[in-house]
Amino acid sequence: MDLADAVEKTWSLNVNGDAVSVAANEDLSLLMALRQDLNLKGTRVGCAQGNCGACTVLLDGRPIQSCTTPISVVADRNIVTVEGLNRDGAPGRLQRLFLDEQAAQCGYCINGILMTVTGLLDRSPPADRREIVATLDERHLCRCGAQGRILRAIDRAMTGQPGSAS
Ligand code: FES
Ligand code: FES
Repeated sequence: MDLADAVEKTWSLNVNGDAVSVAANEDLSLLMALRQDLNLKGTRVGCAQGNCGACTVLLDGRPIQSCTTPISVVADRNIVTVEGLNRDGAPGRLQRLFLDEQAAQCGYCINGILMTVTGLLDRSPPADRREIVATLDERHLCRCGAQGRILRAIDRAMTGQPGSAS
């Protein structure tokens, strides 16, 4: 390794509305920065190769895979993790709908799916059902077969229904 590669810099990020800084080599993945440096463990480690979607977060409102995104790319940009979906310390609306529909089995894939769906629905104009299904199909693995319940929760989100689970 070149000595220059090992030099840490301090990176400024905005995570869930908070200005934070991380001292790291420029190649550190956003996933590891979130989990190890910022103690935000809701962003999951799956394949770590950009294939499973478990590590998805929002970058300036768009879903990205944090395992293949170096911290140098996200400096001074806005990141939202699953923790940022909470409202007043409780699950946000989409999370409540997933809870209502029991839209998980092991749950490992769910935080990433929540972030992708949030990004697609909060977009202007929001994605339609076909795009959401195609995006989940392309970018997310759910090995438990919870897709039917996940789609029921998403359908309720698209029709504006409130979630009731606490
Ligand atoms: S852990 Fe990032 S895509 Fe699988
Ligand atoms: S609920 Fe287990 S991988 Fe999706």
